Amino acid sequence: MAEEKSLSVEEIKKKREEFLMPAYLTYFKEPVHIVRGEMQYLYDDEGKKYLDAFSSVVTISVGHCHPDIIPEVQKQTAALQHITTLYYTESLVKLAEKLASIMPGDLQKSFFTNSGTEATEMSGVIAKNYTKRHEFIALRHAFHGRTLLSMTLSGQSLWRHSLPYVFGVNQAPAAYCYRCPMGLKYPACDMRCAYAVEEIIKYSTSGKIAGMIAEPIMGFGGVITPPKEYFKIIQELVHKYGGLLIIDEVQTGFGRTGEKWFGIEQWDVVPDIINMAKGMGNGIPIGGVTTTPEIAESHRNLIHFSTYGGNPVSTTQARLVIETIEKYDYRTNAKVVGGYLKEKFIELQEKHKIIGEVRGMGLMLGIELVRDKKTKEPAAKEMIALMDLCKDRGLFIGKGAMAGNVIRIKPPLCITRDDADFIVRILDETLGLVEKESGIIDRNFYNSRTARISAKQQ
Ligand SMILES: Cc1ncc(COP(=O)(O)O)c(C=O)c1O
Repeated sequence: MAEEKSLSVEEIKKKREEFLMPAYLTYFKEPVHIVRGEMQYLYDDEGKKYLDAFSSVVTISVGHCHPDIIPEVQKQTAALQHITTLYYTESLVKLAEKLASIMPGDLQKSFFTNSGTEATEMSGVIAKNYTKRHEFIALRHAFHGRTLLSMTLSGQSLWRHSLPYVFGVNQAPAAYCYRCPMGLKYPACDMRCAYAVEEIIKYSTSGKIAGMIAEPIMGFGGVITPPKEYFKIIQELVHKYGGLLIIDEVQTGFGRTGEKWFGIEQWDVVPDIINMAKGMGNGIPIGGVTTTPEIAESHRNLIHFSTYGGNPVSTTQARLVIETIEKYDYRTNAKVVGGYLKEKFIELQEKHKIIGEVRGMGLMLGIELVRDKKTKEPAAKEMIALMDLCKDRGLFIGKGAMAGNVIRIKPPLCITRDDADFIVRILDETLGLVEKESGIIDRNFYNSRTARISAKQQ
């Protein structure tokens, strides 16, 4: 077959406008056409290299097209690409067994889906069926997916498009210490935001909840990282009122927070259900839930079927992702390089007025940008400018929070100290540029002479 010439950025832009729903978001004023990925790096159609410090939205856990994974998955694709879970396959049980070996506590039984959204849905069904109740508590700022239930559980108007919402969901304040919803300061606050969950259960529900869902560290919410006491209090309250604690590890899962496999382990809590996706598949569509044998048993009366959930190709890849994290000790790398990065970001905070707070763990880090450290006015326009400036210099960063003013640094777990130094150097330079020009952040900013000259020098 003759090799086809790839489409130009302009041609893709035209086709997107003509054939795609306008709901698709894109990053950057001048979008990039990515054609290749290799571990922590991406390459565009002109061969320019980028460090992917956002892991293509926290999805590439071990590295793009990891050489230990792709050949094995190619073999599986050639041997058997699809069969449903109605038939026996080795790959399905091998993944489930491997997962059980890394899960905290007695979480052992899994059900696989195609995405994180479906994992959210599935965990809701399990909790309702087990408790024979239907009410849920979720957190403000959270994100759990794009179906009716998962949008209702999400706590940002930005991601809640579907009216009317599901009945029986109540939102609790997040443990967002930098902008404390209770107007208090940690630790003098005595964890009032966590105890607010009890008030909500008592006054806004029937008092009989099916469960509560939470991310250990919020992803889209802007790397909101609760204090160390938080999840123990939450778990106690949820159990006191008869509900299940569902932990959404779609972003924090599989070593990202450093050392531990799952984010919730950093709080020394074993939840009733863990939801997962993204990093689990390192780029292949797969999600899932894992729960205890007892909760799983209550589900024997409910039959589920998913055409692609648990298919041979994605389950093979997900098992290899876990084995690859083990083989290269990427969990330790996340802790060590992540710790180093966080230290460097704190140094940047001292230097740059625009940095309000540095937070997160391992390679799940956030830098909140503010126009003024006293008023904490979110630096949202500056964030947009920063992303473009970083991109021009070969660095992809992510953006989060309701106001879009939090830099999200969540690179593949294989990044090196040199990569970390590159991230710090580029952020230092681009933050400086943004600060300098922040009074005039408008269309002219992108064309500013300083920005252009500086990009050329990279
Ligand atoms: C914490 C969390 N839960 C659920 C989802 C939904 O996952 P998916 O996009 O695979 O449906 C996401 C997606 O970003 C997420 O970050």
